[in-house]
Amino acid sequence: MRTSISSFLQRACCLASLCIDYDLSMYNSWTADNISYIVPSYVKHLKVSIKNPDEIKIVLKRLQQLSSAQFRFGHASCWRKITEWIDRNMSHSSYKADAYSFIVWLGKNSIEFNESKHNNPLVIHNDLPTNDWTSLFQLLVKDNSYYGVASGHSFYEQCLPNHSVGIGYCSTSIHWLSKKPCNILNHCLIDAVTCPKVNEEFRQQAYLDYCRFLKHRSCELISGGVLILVVLATNKEGKRGNEEFHNILYECAQLLPFTSNELIDYTIPAYFRSYDECVDEKLFAEYSFDLIKSQNVMMEPPFLKSWKEEQITFDEFARLSTSFVRG
Ligand SMILES: C[S@@+](CC[C@H](N)C(=O)[O-])C[C@H]1O[C@@H](n2cnc3c(N)ncnc32)[C@H](O)[C@@H]1O
Repeated sequence: MRTSISSFLQRACCLASLCIDYDLSMYNSWTADNISYIVPSYVKHLKVSIKNPDEIKIVLKRLQQLSSAQFRFGHASCWRKITEWIDRNMSHSSYKADAYSFIVWLGKNSIEFNESKHNNPLVIHNDLPTNDWTSLFQLLVKDNSYYGVASGHSFYEQCLPNHSVGIGYCSTSIHWLSKKPCNILNHCLIDAVTCPKVNEEFRQQAYLDYCRFLKHRSCELISGGVLILVVLATNKEGKRGNEEFHNILYECAQLLPFTSNELIDYTIPAYFRSYDECVDEKLFAEYSFDLIKSQNVMMEPPFLKSWKEEQITFDEFARLSTSFVRG
C-alpha cells in the first residue's frame, strides 16, 4: 500500500504541502523510515502523526528540503529533547509546541551547515610531499561538504597514528615502488623486459614494498577497519593492455637528446603485480587482514584506440594522455 502511495506521490511534482494521518492515534502513526520513504523531495510543508517523537530529528535530517513540519503524537508528550536539538543545530529555525503537536519552521540548510559536515568523517588525502598539491587544495576549497586535509608521506612508511583510520582507500598507486632495484636496458618499464634476473629483482622489490605497505596500513587501521585497494595488475597472460602506451613513451625518450647513460637511467620504478601477487592471502593473514572481496577487471587504455583508428592525431593523443595521467 505504502509503495503505491509513494509511487503516486513521486509523480505529483507540483505537490508542495502534504498531510499524512495527522489526526489518527499513535497506533496508526508513522515511523521516521515510513515518512522519509513516502515524502517526495518537492514537498516543502509536511503534517504527519509520528509514532515516536524522538524520531522527529531523523525526519528533519533526511528531508532537508522542508520549510515547515508539523508533527502530532497520540499522547501528551514532552518535546524538550527535540527543542534542545533544534536550538543546538538549527539556529535559524523557530518552533511552537503543545501537549500533542509540534510545529517547526526551518531555517534554510541549517542542518546541513550545523550538523552534517561536522559529523562527517575526516578525509586525509595522502601523497608524496614532493607532489604538486595545488589541484587538491583547489578541490577542497570548491567542495566544502566534508573536512579534508593533506598528508605528505610515502605510503611505505606509517603515515598516521596507530588505530586512527576507519577506511583506507588507495587507488592505482602501489605499482610505484619505493625505488628501482636496477636499471632496465632498451626500455623504461619492466613489462617489456625479458631478462629473468631483472624481472626477479623487480618482483622481489615489489614483494618487499607490498609487505611494508600492508604492515603500516595494518597499524593505522582500527580493529574492524577496512582497506580498499585498486591495483594496476596484469591478467593471466601477464598483460595489462597498456604496454603499447609505454612503448611510445620510450620511443619519445629516444628522440630526446639524452646520453646513453641517461637513457639507461630512465627506468620507471614501477611493477605490475599478477592477480595472485595482489591477492596474497598468506601475506594478508601475516598483517591481520581478512579478504572480503577481490575482482580482476580488464580496462581499455584511454585514447589509444581512438589514435590507432585515426580519430585523433598523435599530438592530440599525447596531450590527452598527459592530462589524463596528471588527473
Ligand atoms: C596514478 S596516480 C593515482 C592517483 C589517485 N589515487 C587516483 O586514483 O586518481 C599515483 C599516485 O601515487 C602517488 N605515489 C607514488 N608513490 C607513492 C608513495 N610511495 N607514497 C605515496 N604516494 C605515492 C603518486 O604521487 C601519484 O599521485
